Amino acid sequence: MRSEKTGISIYRTPSHNNVKTSTFQKTSTVNSDAIKEALKQVKYPGFSRDIVSFGLVKSAAFADGTAKVSLTLTTADPKVPLHLKKEVENCLRALPGVTSTIVDVAVSAPRAATPAGGNLGGNAAAPKTIRHAIAIASGKGGVGKSTFAVNLACSLAQVLAAQGRPGRVGLMDCDIYGPSVPLMIGLHGERPHVEGDNLIPIEKHGVKVMSMGFLVDDNTPVVWRGPMIMKTIQQFVQNVRWGELDVLLIDLPPGTGDAQLSLVQTLPLDGAILVTTPQPAATNIARKGGLMFQKVNVPLLGVAENMSYFTDPTGTRHALFGEGGGARTAESLGTVLLGQVPLIPEIRSGGDSGTPIVVSAPQSAAAEVFREIGRALMEEVQRRTAAAKPGTGSA
Ligand SMILES: Nc1ncnc2c1ncn2[C@@H]1O[C@H](COP(=O)(O)OP(=O)(O)OP(=O)(O)O)[C@@H](O)[C@H]1O
Ligand SMILES: [Mg+2]
Repeated sequence: MRSEKTGISIYRTPSHNNVKTSTFQKTSTVNSDAIKEALKQVKYPGFSRDIVSFGLVKSAAFADGTAKVSLTLTTADPKVPLHLKKEVENCLRALPGVTSTIVDVAVSAPRAATPAGGNLGGNAAAPKTIRHAIAIASGKGGVGKSTFAVNLACSLAQVLAAQGRPGRVGLMDCDIYGPSVPLMIGLHGERPHVEGDNLIPIEKHGVKVMSMGFLVDDNTPVVWRGPMIMKTIQQFVQNVRWGELDVLLIDLPPGTGDAQLSLVQTLPLDGAILVTTPQPAATNIARKGGLMFQKVNVPLLGVAENMSYFTDPTGTRHALFGEGGGARTAESLGTVLLGQVPLIPEIRSGGDSGTPIVVSAPQSAAAEVFREIGRALMEEVQRRTAAAKPGTGSA
């Protein structure tokens, strides 16, 4: 699987035909046009039209007995590319002289097709009621990603409630190895209600929460969790009754490896925020995380610097982890620094007690930083959504 455009996955498996057709090869008239003509027999699932007239066949070629076809399609249903790939292979194998086939199917998730905008809004398999889905990511672990996600979610809920839009923020904790959101938001040990095939998120501090931590207990072996992740993440998008949300924040596990990459491609995302502490040990890996998102065309909405400074009782600021790392990371990735969150004991204790600082001390300077970041973020996604609307240019 690889990716070229937003959310694109490529299904590619060469398959070999055992039929001995070498004598055919010399006389074969199979060429690009003949292949396209043959592919007119392949119908798009659920439609009477064929894939050629739909314009899904990007290229078709034949050389040395191998027929090679590339398809591009936009769908949120993983069954469609698999079905089409099989149909195309069968069709190619029936052609004289074809001994093997290579079928590439590039799949992109539907984008910004609805007035609500956003990948989730335009994704047929995802709830149309979610306007913006934003991942909170980092390269390095322990930089405060979950703390940031929880506080940002609660402050966004406050800002939106003040605008007459209560209950419009969701928080999805995708960290299967160390889900910390339930503890940090005060829902440790809770279990979501199940209604039919759907999970009902649990609401706390105005935020609708779903977490791997609700579904696996602390004793669930890690080896068992790995294979579950993609399926579970898909279910978190499709089978959780989020209701109408202005924004869904997604707390990702740390790292920039394959797991994160597949996760990012599994989720229909509108953008990502990178959390980093100022020191190079964190910013270097955050940069890699940023490049990963750019590779799969998930827009970077900004960098949030955490543990930026500590203010002592005399009011003097100390840059314990260095200075300027967040701004430098943002600049090198061509994005903005959304804000700087101070290192303060109340942020730590708020996470441990389940009452985030933006809830326990909404008037504090730290709470104001989170609200500012929340406002900047909403402005940025709305600006991008407006720019992506059909007719305005940059879809
Ligand atoms: N601004 C801050 N001030 C004080 N403590 C903080 C701050 N941000 C995070 N912490 C503390 O740092 C620790 C790590 O934070 P957190 O668990 O949010 O990081 P993380 O990046 O999500 O970690 P992981 O990579 O394991 O998911 C926690 O104990 C948290 O309370
Ligand atoms: Mg975390």
